[in-house]
Amino acid sequence: MRTNYCGLIDTQYLGQTVTVMGWAHRRRDHGGVIFIDLRDREGLVQVVADTEATPSPTPTETFKNADSVRNEFVLRVTGLVRARPEGMVNPNLKSGGIEILAQELEVLNTCATPPFLMDDDNISETVRLENRVLDLRRPAMQHNLRLRHRVASATRRYLDANGFVDVETPVLYKSTPEGAREFLVPSRIHDGQFYALPQSPQLFKQMLMIAGYDRYYQITKCFRDEDLRADRQPEFTQIDCETSFLSEQEIRDVFEGLIRTVFKDVLDVEFPKLPVYTYAEVMRDYGVDKPDLRIPLKFTELTDLMKTVDFKVFRAAADLPNGRVAALRIPGGAGLLSRKEIDDYTTFVGIYGAKGLAYIKVNDATKFNEEGLQSPIVKFLKPDSLQAIIERTGAQTGDLIFFAADKESVVNDSLGALRAKVGHEKGFAEKGWKPLWVVDFPMFEFNEDTKTWAARHHPFTAPKDGHEEYLATDPGRAIAKAYDMVLNGWELGGGSVRIHRQDVQAKVFDALGISAADQERKFGFLLKQLKFGAPPHGGIAFGLDRLSAMMAGVEQIRDVIAFPKTQRGQDLLVETPTPVTEQQLRDLHIKLRNPVKVE
Ligand code: AMO
Ligand code: AMP
Repeated sequence: MRTNYCGLIDTQYLGQTVTVMGWAHRRRDHGGVIFIDLRDREGLVQVVADTEATPSPTPTETFKNADSVRNEFVLRVTGLVRARPEGMVNPNLKSGGIEILAQELEVLNTCATPPFLMDDDNISETVRLENRVLDLRRPAMQHNLRLRHRVASATRRYLDANGFVDVETPVLYKSTPEGAREFLVPSRIHDGQFYALPQSPQLFKQMLMIAGYDRYYQITKCFRDEDLRADRQPEFTQIDCETSFLSEQEIRDVFEGLIRTVFKDVLDVEFPKLPVYTYAEVMRDYGVDKPDLRIPLKFTELTDLMKTVDFKVFRAAADLPNGRVAALRIPGGAGLLSRKEIDDYTTFVGIYGAKGLAYIKVNDATKFNEEGLQSPIVKFLKPDSLQAIIERTGAQTGDLIFFAADKESVVNDSLGALRAKVGHEKGFAEKGWKPLWVVDFPMFEFNEDTKTWAARHHPFTAPKDGHEEYLATDPGRAIAKAYDMVLNGWELGGGSVRIHRQDVQAKVFDALGISAADQERKFGFLLKQLKFGAPPHGGIAFGLDRLSAMMAGVEQIRDVIAFPKTQRGQDLLVETPTPVTEQQLRDLHIKLRNPVKVE
């Protein structure tokens, strides 16, 4: 039906007759001459319908049709490629040097008035999601989804070349505690019983290792019923991988190679070699386990110094068993931050539980008193303490120092968020890609509400050599063979070396307070398979949505997902979730607590 894509016709085609098809992006009537920008997936081309100039067999018909065209009508145009008149060349378009003089112009379909223009960048997200089909037609979304396709293709090429085998695993799975809340699917055949949608194929990939496949991958949907954010969807896609007989270091090397290759293939970017930080180091320096290393600001530890001061707020925090006092130096901050901005930052850290935000403006770094240091807290601190703070933070005249004093978790959360905010708002962030590995995560974290230990990664993660003994005695001390790949402040992927011995797995379940009966009921299948010659194995999963979003330069993963859910878990295009009929519920043996009437 056509000879060329609109967006690919350039001056090479001058003098040729072409047939193009696409959507009318814009139509301009210059009295007797009609210009239509015709758009297909490759871009725009300008079509001209001109009764005078058109060497058409049906000039009036062609012009009449062109005259009837409205936004997003579907057209087929045959015409002559000619140079645009001087001054009318558009250097921003591949087809900007030419136009097509229409000989025949057919309207293949009309279009209801679209709710927005295709090149409008200020459409509300609700309107976009309600009209997702038209939204996906927009060039920006076409670009994003094609980039995502290239990321997935490059991934498959690399993994295939490295011997990984693509194996599909079930979507109707079993309810098992793995971290997030699950989606349940009622069984019709088994009254009162449920499947669960997998949070990841974790245990299937481990069982494939026991089955001897050695290298597995799958680009697959995972389902988690959790609170949604810019980087979280209830169904999302993982590049899920597992290998046998590789050390932690070897596993990281293989998957660093994957991400490096994807960046090279898709963006032609040479990805830097990833620095490796321990969890303890990133928490100490940045307060978060996924630091944005584009921001060259670091915390300074002050807890030890503050154990001897009189200033109550700092002293009390330093004396807490889990307390911390830390500083964040903002170079040049004295002149950069207004009083009002400091007040706003104080409100901001309050979101993270901070009870205040002390600061010192360093007007003269050589005077350790109220003359050199402007601050509401200087009067509470002795000159030698002030001198120690200035020296340890490396503060220079003109800098500003923020302080956080509280439980360690509050200090880390609040000062970590402040570092990112000030870093981006005040222009400290460098451009480019700043990836890193974070390793040596703790095995467990303590849940203060339930007074129980929870797996930091998941319960199948192996402890570091020598840390097995802490599982029963001191779970908080056990470090895991777990690693995350972090890029520009986002966790791109995470994985671990797994437990391949049944007795160790049972010890971890014990540490998590999972009873023997529950271990058997929920994970009996795993414990049984681990007895049948499980090899040492480990792997990782990357978020394909997050990787694609980063590479496309968009802020939220919804922009690289064709049909995403809203923050409230709805699909506004197909309008789901919805109530179902009484008969459907009956078939599934379900009676609702709050019945919803279906018309
Ligand atoms: P984890 O839970 O860390 O590990 O998930 C791996 C990666 O998946 C992405 N991700 C998400 N993306 C979008 N929306 C979500 N709700 C969401 N949740 C996670 C992140 C994350 O780094 N089975 C293990 C992997 C392993 O141990 O091999 C797992 O699922 O990019
Ligand atoms: P106050 O003595 O309560 O007026 O506090 C003196 C200064 O310390 C103010 O600038 C407060 O914002 C700050 N501040 C109070 N509590 C904390 C805290 N937990 N961490 C850091 N700064 C604090």
